[in-house]
Amino acid sequence: LSDDQGWRVEIKKYPLLTEKSGWRKFNNHDRGCLNLAKKENNPDYLLPQKRLKVVEGDTLYGGFYTQEDVREIVSYAAERGIDVIPEIDMPGHFSAAILAYPELSCFNKASWGHTFSAPICPGKDKTVEFCQDIFTEIFELFPYQYVHMGADEVEKDNWIKCPNCQKRIRQEKLKDEKELQSWFVREMKKFFDQNGKKLIGWDEIIEGGLPEGATVMWWRTWSRNAVQTATSKGSEVILAPNSHYYFDYQQDYSPLQKLYEFNPVPEGLSPEQKKLPIGVQANHWADWIPSFHRLPFMSVPRLLALSAVAWRQDSVRRCEAFYHRLILHF
Ligand code: ACM
Ligand code: ZN
Repeated sequence: LSDDQGWRVEIKKYPLLTEKSGWRKFNNHDRGCLNLAKKENNPDYLLPQKRLKVVEGDTLYGGFYTQEDVREIVSYAAERGIDVIPEIDMPGHFSAAILAYPELSCFNKASWGHTFSAPICPGKDKTVEFCQDIFTEIFELFPYQYVHMGADEVEKDNWIKCPNCQKRIRQEKLKDEKELQSWFVREMKKFFDQNGKKLIGWDEIIEGGLPEGATVMWWRTWSRNAVQTATSKGSEVILAPNSHYYFDYQQDYSPLQKLYEFNPVPEGLSPEQKKLPIGVQANHWADWIPSFHRLPFMSVPRLLALSAVAWRQDSVRRCEAFYHRLILHF
């Protein structure tokens, strides 16, 4: 529901998150999609008219879920036995929000580091409160136990230079900026605990010390020991390795056969550890997807293969047969 490219859920306490951070001028990806729509004569690459608005001569692209929308989605899903888990990504991937509330960052402006956007400043108490305020509203909207706080891909250069961050490191007797990230996750975890919620974070939360009881979502296939480490500490894990389970990647990167053959649980786990993977997930970063029609084109039939793996080995064959029938049908 949040990322560098846009903020997508109404937060009543901070209205600029949607008034301002929910909209952007076209980026390279948007322009690429519009070019493809023309070149391939494929309207699925067009940005929907209802997601465009003209402000002071600029065309802006965006949109967001109102709290009413969220309630409707959550209840529609609940009637069908589905729980919805929201993610609000922090302390990195937060630059859309920082554009509207620059004081959240170390140097009061949205900027870009070597690889990722500059994160929020965990050295400022007000920033931590801002994040908790957001989750107060999110917890209210999403009744399910699990809530995702992101914590991936944090560029820590500003934290090295920031007096507030360095003060926090000294006061909390932390070793370095990695431990500062863990401190921030632990603070959020305390807040989640107080509100009866279970915290999920991307596998980066292992670095700098994994907070006890946090659930780890493994996405970096190249972080080979993530599942081993997390489960050896008794943490639950959700398996979403990007070598297979990123459905915004093109299909030839994760074709069906590769998905059907894949066992996402890494080898070498003890019987106790084997109880801790609680499921699989396919990530589909919809900011890469220009239109609603493009979404099923990317995710089906790969979702069927994911489901087959998520169930049991003996259901794989049935699912494959189903998939072939589906193809014949079309
Ligand atoms: C991620 O794809 N950065 C979780
Ligand atoms: Zn700072």
